[in-house]
Amino acid sequence: MINGVLERYGEYLPLTEKTPIFTLGEGDTPLVKSESIAAEAGCGELYFKLEICNPTGSFKDRGMVVAVAKALEEGGDTIVCASTGNTSASAAAYGARCGLNTVIVVPNKYVARGKLAQAVTYGARIMLIDGGFDDALRIVRELAAKHPVVLVNSLNPYRLQGQKTAAFEIVNDLGTAPDHLFIPVGNAGNITAYWLGFQEAHQMEWTGTLPKMMGFEAEGAAAIVKGHPIETPNTIASAIRVGNPASWTKAVRAREESGGAIDSVTDDEIMEAYTLMAREEGIFCEPASAASVAGLLKLARGGMRLQDSKVVCVITGSGLKDPDTAVGVDPVFREEFPADTGAIEDAMGLA
Ligand code: F0G
Repeated sequence: MINGVLERYGEYLPLTEKTPIFTLGEGDTPLVKSESIAAEAGCGELYFKLEICNPTGSFKDRGMVVAVAKALEEGGDTIVCASTGNTSASAAAYGARCGLNTVIVVPNKYVARGKLAQAVTYGARIMLIDGGFDDALRIVRELAAKHPVVLVNSLNPYRLQGQKTAAFEIVNDLGTAPDHLFIPVGNAGNITAYWLGFQEAHQMEWTGTLPKMMGFEAEGAAAIVKGHPIETPNTIASAIRVGNPASWTKAVRAREESGGAIDSVTDDEIMEAYTLMAREEGIFCEPASAASVAGLLKLARGGMRLQDSKVVCVITGSGLKDPDTAVGVDPVFREEFPADTGAIEDAMGLA
């Protein structure tokens, strides 16, 4: 039986006896050891935290289950969120499970097709706007300020509470915190949540050390790196196409307190890491997730010495969510044949 985040981590979450306990099977995701990319980056040890194994295929489910449980506890009947796709897929799933009205406000372009397919099938009401994620977030904040609807973006503190549990699992699996945690940064909630989780794990003496938090934005959406909001962010990693991250200040605090870094990677670097993850490691992640691996490779190639380090890259979302990007990778090993064994034998050189 899967316990889920609410049951497994209830004592570390702001739950009360009135909080409903339910799960779609979120959390308890694998920490998988790398061989190939570990060697390429010269890491002592490298692990991937496979958040793609959550029920809707991204890390959002850990936080959504807590946000939705608290919404129910507080008598809410409608949840709203802005999203580049994954938050909306998760909100739609948990909203469906709990009989809530789910309204998602998303950019008309730039939401990967698999994520929209999830929201459609879970039955959420989908408001496509002529704007980007930052516009969508402004709209849902205004809605939540004026009307009795519950905002389930990561501005909702229960989201970060749920997401911090991934840091607990890493500490539990490694027996200590890693030396470096590489993580993609979009709206900057997840890096904030992990830092919170590692700090709490440290306070509870589950680990004697803390990781350096290494966040990576996409170069075309690198507000924190550039020090100003980006008016028209752009990147192939649509999940992190965010021009004015809501948790900007908290992410900077995580970087400073941990002695880490927030840097950027180009779309080419993201796509190289995306393909390497699939072809060398057998892990199909979405482009935004590959930003963590791209960041590791960028720093390693730039001379960062990691041979004595335990490194974790957070793999935030599944490659299945973005089929259009997947079918565009190069080279494609695809050939067409008649339904005939001999033709395939010939092509394979087995004749
Ligand atoms: N990776 C994936 C796959 C994401 O979907 C997101 C964010 C991030 C990384 C970055 O996390 O925003 O906490 O810094 N997706 C949001 C969404 C914006 O709407 O689904 P963050």
